[in-house]
Order: sequence, then structure tokens, then C-alpha cells
Amino acid sequence: MTIQGPIRPQPFSLIGKPATRIDGAAKVTGRAIYPSDESVPHAANAYLITSSVARGRVVGFDLSETRAVPGFLDFLSHENVASEAKPPKQMAGGETTTTLESDRVWHDGQIIGVVVADSFEAAREAAFKVHVRTEAETPAATFGSPGAEEEPREDEQKEDFAVGDAAAAFATAEVTVDAWYDTPTQHHNPIELFTTTCAWNGGQLTIWEPSQFVYGLRGNVAQQLGIDPESVRVVSKFVGGAFGAKGGATARTAWIAIAARRLGRPVKLVATRDQGFTIATYRAETRHHLRLGADAEGRLTSLIHEGWEVTSRPSYYNVSGTESTARMYAAPNILTRVNIVHADRSTPGFMRAPPEQPYMFPLECAMDELAVTLGVDPIELRRRNEPARDPVTGLAFSSRNLMACFDAGAAQFGWKRRDPRPGSMRDGDWLIGLGCASAAYASNIAGSTARVILRPDGEAQVKLAGHDVGTGAYTVVAITAADRLGLALEKVRVEMGDTELPPASLAAGSSHTASITHAVTRACDALTAQIAAAATASNAGPFAGHDPDRLSLRDGFLVGPDGTREPLADAVGRISAGALEAYAENVPDGLPLDAIGTLYQGQLPILRGQKRKDVTAYSYGAHFVEVRIHRRTCEIRVPRMLGAFAAGTIVNPLTARSQFMGGMIWGLGSALLEKTEIDARAARYTNDNIAEYQIAVNADVGEVEVMMLPEADDAVNPLGIKGIGEIGIVGVNAAIANAVFHATGRRVRRLPIRIEDLL
Ligand code: MOS
Repeated sequence: MTIQGPIRPQPFSLIGKPATRIDGAAKVTGRAIYPSDESVPHAANAYLITSSVARGRVVGFDLSETRAVPGFLDFLSHENVASEAKPPKQMAGGETTTTLESDRVWHDGQIIGVVVADSFEAAREAAFKVHVRTEAETPAATFGSPGAEEEPREDEQKEDFAVGDAAAAFATAEVTVDAWYDTPTQHHNPIELFTTTCAWNGGQLTIWEPSQFVYGLRGNVAQQLGIDPESVRVVSKFVGGAFGAKGGATARTAWIAIAARRLGRPVKLVATRDQGFTIATYRAETRHHLRLGADAEGRLTSLIHEGWEVTSRPSYYNVSGTESTARMYAAPNILTRVNIVHADRSTPGFMRAPPEQPYMFPLECAMDELAVTLGVDPIELRRRNEPARDPVTGLAFSSRNLMACFDAGAAQFGWKRRDPRPGSMRDGDWLIGLGCASAAYASNIAGSTARVILRPDGEAQVKLAGHDVGTGAYTVVAITAADRLGLALEKVRVEMGDTELPPASLAAGSSHTASITHAVTRACDALTAQIAAAATASNAGPFAGHDPDRLSLRDGFLVGPDGTREPLADAVGRISAGALEAYAENVPDGLPLDAIGTLYQGQLPILRGQKRKDVTAYSYGAHFVEVRIHRRTCEIRVPRMLGAFAAGTIVNPLTARSQFMGGMIWGLGSALLEKTEIDARAARYTNDNIAEYQIAVNADVGEVEVMMLPEADDAVNPLGIKGIGEIGIVGVNAAIANAVFHATGRRVRRLPIRIEDLL
């Protein structure tokens, strides 16, 4: 049966209790098969040829040495297969950079050819022997490069705001901050590489590829190849890190599918680490002009945020985090604008908290600068600017516990021991700095479906094409089903990550848990309702004449409000000798009714928390960090971090804590370490490996404390879930920059902050 009914109210039994991962043993014993590990019999191996120029065209290939390599099987380029696929669609932001469809080179490292051979080694050797002739033009690398083209963002998905007269209010403000900030290019660097294996069976294509959205990948590849989505299956049961990099489709998949079709044999691609820097997406560098005007008490009178983002030539991809910074504080006059700068680069894409991570940095630094100017504690400054309603739309917040996060975090962190004077706190040769910043991330929700099967012996199976990108989603689904069906967690099996299963949406944008658990709950409640209806309609049995709506499943029994109970097997057996099954769809209010249909097509029905018509829905948090900076070497250490978050119901506090920690640690790396360096002459990345692209390792991380504040908010999801995937990283960069200022009196407005900024 298909369900779209209300969710039955009931107290949680397992939701909110810490549980270890149900897939933990499979992962540590190697039984968990990641798509890259999939061993498809008789698969040939592909190796990508990528462009060594950033702008120009491919004139031709000399393959004489290539063809002589033992095991060489095939070579694909625009010369022989251009007509077989269209470029992939970008999930957000218009056209993406094409690859094999023409001789045009849009960016350094673009895929321009694919070699296929009997083994990986042979494919690699043959690829190294391809002589490529190109015509190169001078590329524009980034902001300020000759030839880079700036234009105001035009994107129907995104808005600029003009509330009141921000320019006039800024001009007459008693106190102002007027500053420029920069955030760098960054790459996700998931440990599992960008791999793809394709196999055809007649007209049926199976793709094994790590993905945050198997239905999306299916739809996109089908569209590229001009085939029916029903004839494509995507399998991605585990994902070895994604962070946004595996949310959309890249060009590689269709080309590997074509290679497999030409050869009549499965083909596996394992792109190298450095190729991953250019064949998938990245976080583009951003620049910001932030102006705050305030009265003498620090109440904001004007907030003006203008951003610039780099993108590729054909794309208008942008993240436009001004949609969040504009609604952060109670400014009566607000002006935002976002510009995009086209350069000879690949198209950027989602990377953890895509809009808020770069855009909250300038706002949260500027708030700290305002606090310093006014001589007001930065937490107090935020309290004075706490908005009663969304300052842009006037809508109520579904819930907003930002100050509760600051208060709880400050008490735990020992904020009141902070001497506000910069450079005043020391420990021998180490300057101590304490900084804080706000975190916010929209509570997004998407359509999803789920199928739940309940056996009379009290075992349940949950099936949906959700995704566990390492976050613990299998366990969260199992907890939800076990909670709703009154079963022990061990009694629930979960299948995800396969388009053979009912569709679910993208595991991204902090939307996945709130979306999929909603569908799972509906299916479980439908089963409960069916069992209760049969029990109360029956003349035999203990529930004759009872109200079915007041019965629930608990501990393997059907239970009434007066304590009457009946074993689950008997209650199920009344309906069927075998298993019961329910299929439920969840289409959140505000999404079109065909949301599930579009999901089947691989499109993304998602309702962003700041785009709702009824409320503005966000999760909030407060970050606290302690930095220690050596007086002579200016080495920056971060011995303590604390994040306090109010993000609705936390389904599994154990994995949630890990996820918050992961975000916070990534925030540390983002503030102090991570930057993809660009050779501006060649528009080429120079540290395209994880030896030189620095990410935070254990030695960089001290104490990390996570506080999860209880919060009730059922506007986003009937279970009260608001989503936690992204918010952990948001604002950490600003908290660290603010702490660096507190330690040294140096205001660094360009990330990452390095020793040379403090010498
Ligand atoms: Mo996250 S960047 O939405 O995968």
C-alpha cells in the first residue's frame, strides 16, 4: 500500500539513544563492499587522458606507440565517440564544462581521451604513450586574471535582498565595519577515489560508482546517453567519503559506459588522486565585501554583504551564502549582491556547507570586529542583534536557539575567564586566544519513499535508495524503524544505495535524515495501523472493540493503553501467514505533488529551509576555540574546540557527535591548512595530492567537545529532525580567525591563516 497519511504520535523508545553502527562489523572486516571494490568479472581497465592546457583545443592524437602496448584495447576521444553522449547536467548552476563532446578545452585537467586495456597497468602505460597535440590560448586562472569575466549572478534559484536603505543607514551609522575577506579554493579529497565501473547486459547498464544520489546519477547518465532511466541501475552501497563531491554526475561515467558498450565487456575506471582535482567538483575561491553599521550600543542598523565567486566559462554555478548571512541578525536595512567570475576552470560544485562555510566567515569575523570596536563582548553583541523574525521575509523561525547555544557553550568552555584585551592571555611563550562565532545551516527537506517489510517473527526489513556516505545512515534508518515498530535494533535489516530500491533523495544539504526517516516512519506507522485495525475488528483476541488509533507496537507486542498485549506474531498472523509490507511516500508540504515522480527521473525535489512560505527553518550553533600562538615562531595550535548545536531531534547521538566533530575538525583545517594552490600562468593546481594539499590530521587536533541541545521543532519533520550534516563546519573558520586576533591583535581576513600572516 502507498501511504501519505499523518504520522502517529508516540514517544520515542530508540530515537535519541546512542547506538553503535549496524554496519560497523561489516566495515571493519571488509565485508562492506564499496563501489570501488566491486570486482566485476572480465572487466577491462580505463585510464583517463587529461588536458595539459587550460584553454584551447585538441588538434589530434598520435597513438602509434599506444597501440603497440600489450593489452591495449581501445581509445576514445571526441574524434570517434563525440556523438554518443551529451554533457552531464549540473545539479545547480546551468551548463557544466563538457569533455569528450568536442575538441574544446575548458580547463586544465579536463578529460580529453580514455584508454582501455586489459589491465590497469597496461591502460596507464598506453595512456602515457598518447601524444596529444593541442592549440593553447592564454588562460584566466582566477579573480583578477586578465580575461576573467565578472557578471552579476543571474540564477532563478537564488535571491539578492534589499531591505530598507542599507547604503544610507551605513553612511549615517555611529559605528561601522568595512572590510574585505577571502576564502580559498578547496577540494574534498574523499579517500575513496572517483571510480566508475560499467557493465552492459543487453540494453541494461549497471554502474558501480560512489554516489550521494543514485537516482540522480541514473537519471543524468540516462539523459547523457539518450536511453531510458529504467534501463540503468546504479549501485553505491557504501561511500568512502563524499562531502558533496559525489552528489552530482561527472563526465566520466557516460564515457566509461560508452567504452564498455564498444568493447562488449565491463570497464572499470579508477581515476588517480590528481585527476580527481579536475574531473570532479571543488569549492571555488570567494571574495567578500562586508559592511556593518551599528548604533553606539551595537544594534545593527545596516548589513551589506557583496560576494564574488569563481566558476567555469559556461556555468553560472554559485553558492550565494548571502541568503543565510542576510537573515542572521536583526538588521533593519539589508543589501546583498553576488557576482560570478568566469575563468578557465572546471565547474565548481557542492562542498560541505557550500554557501555558509565561505559566506559566514566574513560576517562572523565582522561581528567580532564590531564587538572589538564597541568594547562589547562578542556573545553579548549577538544577543543584542537576535531577530524575533526572519529579517528578510518577516516569517517566524521554526525554532531558533542560537543564544541558548552560546550560553551553554560559553559556560562549558569557560568563556568568562577570557580577558578581552588582545594579547593579554599568555602561557610562557604561547599567546592564548579565545574566539567564538555563530553557526547556521538551513533545515532542508526532500521527497523520499521507503518500503518496510515486517515478518511475524518480529524481523523487519527497510528498503530505500538512501545513502550512507559514512555518516551512519544505515543505523539511523534502523533506529527509526525499530523505534516505530517496537523492535530491538538487531531485528531490523536495512538496504540502501541501489536504484533497484524505492527512490530517495540526495544525501546532502543536511536533508537526508529528515527526509528518509520521514518516509520510513510513514511506512512503519502504516503497518502498525493495519495490524491495529485487524486486531480491533476481530471478535476473537484481546483487542475486540478497542480504538485502533490507541494501539502501538512495543517490545514485540501489540499493546493497548490499558496494558493489554498480544504477541506480534499473533497480531500479524491475523492478517497474513507471511510478511506484511508497506510502501510510503513522503512529499513535504511546499514541494510539488510530482516530487516522487521527479525523483524517479533523477531530479531533486528539495525544499530549502530559507525558501519556505510558512516559516524560516534553520539549525543553529555556537563555536568556541582556543588557539595558542608561539611568540617567536608564530606556530598556530588549536588545543580546544567546543561546538554547541540546536538541531532538533538527534536520532543517534553517538554518530551525530562524530559528524559534528568531523565538521568542526574540517573547519579547523579550512581555517589553517586547506588551500588548493593555483599556478596563475597555467590555470593549474599545483598541490593536487594529499601530501601537499594539507588537511587536519590527529596531530593538528586537540580536545573537541560537542554539545547537542535538546530542541523540539516539528515544522521541518514530524519527528523533529532538522539535520546536522553541514552545520558543524560553519563558522569554525571565523571562530579561529577571531581567536587569532584575540591572541595577537592581528586581524587576518584571508584564509587559510598561516604563520607568514603573523610574522
Ligand atoms: Mo553536502 S556539500 O551538501 O554533500
